[in-house]
Amino acid sequence: MSEEEALRGLRMTMKTDSPANQTAAIVLEPVLGEGGFYAAPTSFLKELRNICDENGILLIVDEVQSGFGRTGKMFAIEHSGVEADIITMAKSMADGMPISAIVGTDKHMDSSGPNSLGGTYTGSPTACAAALAVFDVFKEEDILGKSVRLGEKLNQRFTQWQEQFSHVDNVRTLGPMAAFEFVESKDNHKPMPELAAAVTKKAKEKGLILLSCGMYGNSLRFLMPVTIEDNILEEGLAIVEECLKEVGA
Ligand SMILES: Cc1ncc(COP(=O)(O)O)c(C=O)c1O
Repeated sequence: MSEEEALRGLRMTMKTDSPANQTAAIVLEPVLGEGGFYAAPTSFLKELRNICDENGILLIVDEVQSGFGRTGKMFAIEHSGVEADIITMAKSMADGMPISAIVGTDKHMDSSGPNSLGGTYTGSPTACAAALAVFDVFKEEDILGKSVRLGEKLNQRFTQWQEQFSHVDNVRTLGPMAAFEFVESKDNHKPMPELAAAVTKKAKEKGLILLSCGMYGNSLRFLMPVTIEDNILEEGLAIVEECLKEVGA
């Protein structure tokens, strides 16, 4: 689907399936996580922002998976220049310690009454301390710079695999939020989830945990820590390459 068609579809949806004047909020991931690591085009996000502004709709961005440096910026939405009303965050926020947050403009966050935001695990002092330490590390160790460089390395290696292997296609990386697909051929793009499953199984036998994703389960996604050391990254990529050869990718 072209970007133009997607935008037309969006406008149509806001007229028919979810009329704009009856919609309270639009929630989306700027880069789909489980959905296949597809980044929403900037034009699509800008149009969403326009629709929200025109109709008093909240734009809520789910950055639980894409946030905290995972795409080379602190939040993936920053790549588009579009501002969300509310951002949800978790996962990398405290380096794996259980914490999540929603952040929004004063106007929206102050509109909820006392005790209306809560939960069993909110405000765990240990997890809050871990999150604060993560913020320090971001500054001290130039994590965003590391993330950009890691993304470039992955893009280079995956592009090389795309040229080398006949079933590897559709490399997509936004920083180190990186994935590629297994297809029957580069002409028909028919998904081959069985190859993704075979590579994942072989990699596990060799001590590397991989995750597939996407609507057809034929994408392999990579979510190594942004702080990964070069030698560990190389070791992991070498295992993936070995698996690609062994399964006849
Ligand atoms: C994009 C995204 N949003 C939300 C969630 C769910 O987060 P939680 O498990 O904190 O409810 C996940 C979990 O994988 C996710 O990837």
